Amino acid sequence: MVDPSKYNNSMYFYIPYIFEEFEEEIMNMAGKCMDIGCGPGYLTRYILLSALDPKAVVVSMDISENMIGHAKEYSDEERFRFKVLDIGTKHIPEKYFDEYDHAFSFHVLQWCPDIRQAFENIYRLLRSGGTILALMFDWVKPHKELKTLLKSIGFNVLHCSQRKRSITSEDAHKLPQMLLSFVTQFLGNMPQVLVEQFKDEFTEEYMRRRFYYRQTYKKGERILSDIDEILVVYTQKDNNNV
Ligand SMILES: C[S@@+](CC[C@H](N)C(=O)[O-])C[C@H]1O[C@@H](n2cnc3c(N)ncnc32)[C@H](O)[C@@H]1O
Repeated sequence: MVDPSKYNNSMYFYIPYIFEEFEEEIMNMAGKCMDIGCGPGYLTRYILLSALDPKAVVVSMDISENMIGHAKEYSDEERFRFKVLDIGTKHIPEKYFDEYDHAFSFHVLQWCPDIRQAFENIYRLLRSGGTILALMFDWVKPHKELKTLLKSIGFNVLHCSQRKRSITSEDAHKLPQMLLSFVTQFLGNMPQVLVEQFKDEFTEEYMRRRFYYRQTYKKGERILSDIDEILVVYTQKDNNNV
């Protein structure tokens, strides 16, 4: 299991753009919200909670008891609650149905082997008119297919896009470290003895092959940028039932 205290939050770099883009919608969201795959809870606690309507409460959910334990430890805010839940499960408890006004999920849904199941579960957990804003990696599906899938579940798709984003660092070795921080779930499922070996091999291979798409200079320091692709979805549950 990945140690939550070693969680690398460098992936937050794109989150402010998403919060800015959906600022108006987010600031008017109140009621009971869920942050699916909250990890150690920093993003929920320090970014999401302050962006929402002050009356909103957020239930942070994660498949990992370790992550939820860590998030709880760092919580000093009564609007912040916790639940261990696998959003990809085939047996989502009925007692949670129609419970949430809004959902968020950042850097998580790409880990669900059955993405339809995950979105069907989210649909069930949301109240009628409830929304989900999610950012995930593009290996889930091309965005047009994802849009079709969401519609077939009953969602009213307000936004679905595939975007390139660039990650930057002054130190080329930090780029593979950032990318490794995106794969916590995968590393958590690996035998511990192989994790360090995998990280070394990944870094070596990345450094060998990678084309740094841009080099700029800031105060004489070289800045390297690399690109990855993400999917951004903002969608609403209408009155249909799954
Ligand atoms: C890369 S972290 C993202 C954490 C946080 N959302 C962020 O953006 O910093 C991915 C998290 O998703 C959780 N996760 C993976 N699969 C999940 C699932 N099926 N249900 C709920 N959480 C899941 C992992 O345990 C991990 O904490």
